[in-house]
Amino acid sequence: MQLSVIGCGYLGAVHAAAMASLGHQVVGLDVDEGKIAKLSAGEPPFHEPGFEDILKAGLASGNLTFSTDYADVASADVHFIGVGTPQRRDGGGADLTYVDSAIQGLLPHLKEGALIAGKSTVPVGTAARLAEIVRPRGAHLMWNPEFLREGFAVKDTVDPDRLVYGVSPETGDTDVATLDAVYASILERDTPRLVTDYATAELVKVAANSFLATKISFINAMAEIAEVTGADVTQLADAIGHDVRIGRKFLNAGVGFGGGCLPKDIRAFTARAEELGRGESVGFLKQVDEINLRRRQRVVDLVVDAFGGQPFGHRVAVLGLAFKPDSDDIRDSPALDVAVRLKGLGAEVVSYDPQAMETARRAHPQLDYAASLDDALDGAEAVVVVTEWKQFKALDPVATAQKVARPVVFDGRNILDPEAWRAAGWEYTGMGR
Ligand code: UGA
Repeated sequence: MQLSVIGCGYLGAVHAAAMASLGHQVVGLDVDEGKIAKLSAGEPPFHEPGFEDILKAGLASGNLTFSTDYADVASADVHFIGVGTPQRRDGGGADLTYVDSAIQGLLPHLKEGALIAGKSTVPVGTAARLAEIVRPRGAHLMWNPEFLREGFAVKDTVDPDRLVYGVSPETGDTDVATLDAVYASILERDTPRLVTDYATAELVKVAANSFLATKISFINAMAEIAEVTGADVTQLADAIGHDVRIGRKFLNAGVGFGGGCLPKDIRAFTARAEELGRGESVGFLKQVDEINLRRRQRVVDLVVDAFGGQPFGHRVAVLGLAFKPDSDDIRDSPALDVAVRLKGLGAEVVSYDPQAMETARRAHPQLDYAASLDDALDGAEAVVVVTEWKQFKALDPVATAQKVARPVVFDGRNILDPEAWRAAGWEYTGMGR
């Protein structure tokens, strides 16, 4: 089928290449000329495992092209909208500028009966509003939220755990058949596919992310209690996680969640619920956000305390900048936030991340970036682990102790073995353990 994907960020670029890998003819469109030039040359503009392979394969097969010109997507049967919906500068709500301009850009180029499938995370009510705009052009609109995780984006796109189609009552049957044809090879594997109305599909996405954020903040709240009682939150998570109704996933306490999705989605949901007069229904999300932000400050406080309240001039190795491993994404990253706060307090912060050095340097040129993990550790008076990269998890406490000036470690992700580190002479502090 002929497809277009409007917006070539983490979501759109992966979706475009993944759809090409399923055999479709895909044009990826973005207004950012630099990004389109890179993608056209087979260079991923961000780090995502497996993406470069499907990008290069798509380009080589001729199934995948990129453009900045809406005229180039005019022949598409289905247009996926994968643009960003960041937090508004003037509040917690979602900024829909990019979604609106994608629709406006498409309007003159829609062929009769074309289907627009929105994938971006939008406030409930958006699809119904956009449907009114595209209907006079003879186009159809549905909402098909995306649940991919960064670091697993390719796998999650070609092998999702479910598909959700939010459709209109008028054209729903036709639109379901069209999208089923796009995802035929995914549906052959009996992937659950739920057909809903617009509002439900929009809510499924924010409800899922709100639930995940709540689960993380729940365990971080338990970490706060563990800190004043001497309990170990990791053992607590293991123990409650054995209950299949609770489950162990997303119960890792630490510096909390970040990224381009969870933080802004809970804020946008709160703002939308307030607009709808149901602010109290999701009032707990404000606490989820507050608990989450407290954990970043908690790590900073622990480090400051280790220097008797005077971190000025002390060398601190901050391991991690990305908001999660296997990503170079630093949007709302707890790791980067910790580095910036410590630097702001006068500590001599040296940061290292296996992938996110460039993205961090662009956003925060004032920070010091080590050339390697060893360079970051060299002479450190405190080591702070803030992204759960496997390289950090695999650090040998005995060898690492030889590199630093003082064996003091703060495990902001609870990924190190406290016993092994203490046995190697380290003063180990985890988060709620
Ligand atoms: C999240 C959701 O998990 C995806 O399902 C969703 O599609 C995506 O947002 C989106 O809206 O597009 P992602 O932002 O890639 O995916 O990141 P997560 O894997 O959810 O991790 C978010 C943050 O939570 C990271 O900073 C991670 O370190 C932190 N986290 C995760 C914890 O602190 N503890 C945990 O137990 C798990």
